[in-house]
Amino acid sequence: MKKTVLITGGAGFIGSNYVYYTLEKHPDYRVVCIDKLTYAGNLENLEQAMKNDNFRFVKGDITDRECVDRLFAEEKFDAVINFAAESHVDRSIENPQVFLMTNVVGTSVLLDACRRYGTARYHQVSTDEVYGDLPLDRPDLFFTEDTPVHTSSPYSASKASADLLCLAYYRTFGTPVTVSRCSNNYGPYHFPEKLIPLMIANALNDKPLPVYGNGLNVRDWLYVKDHCKAIDMIVEHGKIGEVYNVGGHNERTNIDVVKTVLRLLEKPESLITYVTDRPGHDRRYAIDPTKIKNELGWYPETGFDDGMKKTVAWYLENRGWWERIISGQYQEYYERMYANR
Ligand code: NAD
Ligand code: TYD
Repeated sequence: MKKTVLITGGAGFIGSNYVYYTLEKHPDYRVVCIDKLTYAGNLENLEQAMKNDNFRFVKGDITDRECVDRLFAEEKFDAVINFAAESHVDRSIENPQVFLMTNVVGTSVLLDACRRYGTARYHQVSTDEVYGDLPLDRPDLFFTEDTPVHTSSPYSASKASADLLCLAYYRTFGTPVTVSRCSNNYGPYHFPEKLIPLMIANALNDKPLPVYGNGLNVRDWLYVKDHCKAIDMIVEHGKIGEVYNVGGHNERTNIDVVKTVLRLLEKPESLITYVTDRPGHDRRYAIDPTKIKNELGWYPETGFDDGMKKTVAWYLENRGWWERIISGQYQEYYERMYANR
């Protein structure tokens, strides 16, 4: 069936990957993207999508009720998938306020619009960080959907608040929500403030690679396309009111990940520099994906070694993309694209 879907935050890392995933998987769908184009939103990510007649881009803020209502009135969405967020833990420690606005208030504006317009499906893209962290000496422990929410950073607290709001709308108003909580993603279009792309960019520029603390914190890495596949399966076949954990049992210490980057780029480990730890730094994340595997048949297709090779190759082939970000030049792209329209 032909559907119209709203992808919020589609100019960011995972959102842009999801735009391409959807246009390819559902060539008959109309895909509308709303994005505020914050520092993390890059219209260059959507350059190929812009050429597709089934794609529409709208520059807008999900906390702006009028703007969101206008869009819902115009488009009659069958599904809304909310990626729009402030997403970087370090920035949330510097300035929590904007995280509360976009991640919590923005989610409430979208949920209200879904209620008003009777949208058949609302999906909240959340994170495993809402579960807090696991001890390093208990490799037998994993996050399940029943693990209590127990957050550490203003980022994870804002995401947990948004999740709770979604589930409250389901219980109170019957809003047809689903929530996914995914582990750390990596792959193309990953903004170079996050661990993997930052280390790739620094290594290619022969700059020091800043590892927080002792480098032994553990993250559970998933190739971004596998996350997109999981979200698509949940939106199409998931049960409303449910939370689904997404992850592929790919736990690595940070120092291991950094050494992998250096090995793939044939750069020396002497570039590694240990720096002051992040305040409140979560020790270990690890997802138990049994529910999404059993209920929806989801499984990850890209292993870590293969995914890292693809990712490093992408950053080598798209050097201009991340160099323009690092220099700030990418923010002029919107002006160039839209100034005369
Ligand atoms: P990102 O920072 O790369 O992209 C966020 C996008 O949202 C940007 O394009 C930005 O311009 C847009 N945006 C921000 N505020 C907005 C607003 N008020 N209105 C409209 N657009 C706005 O983030 P990402 O890494 O792609 O993450 C996307 C979603 O996935 C987030 O909700 C994040 O919490 C979640 N998530 C991320 C990861 C990960 O590893 N990156 C893992 C699990 C879940
Ligand atoms: P990040 O990519 O910010 O994701 P998150 O904090 O949401 O998991 O960081 C991943 C891990 O890498 C985290 O343990 C912090 C660490 N890290 C560094 O050691 N150095 C860095 O420069 C960055 C950005 C992260």
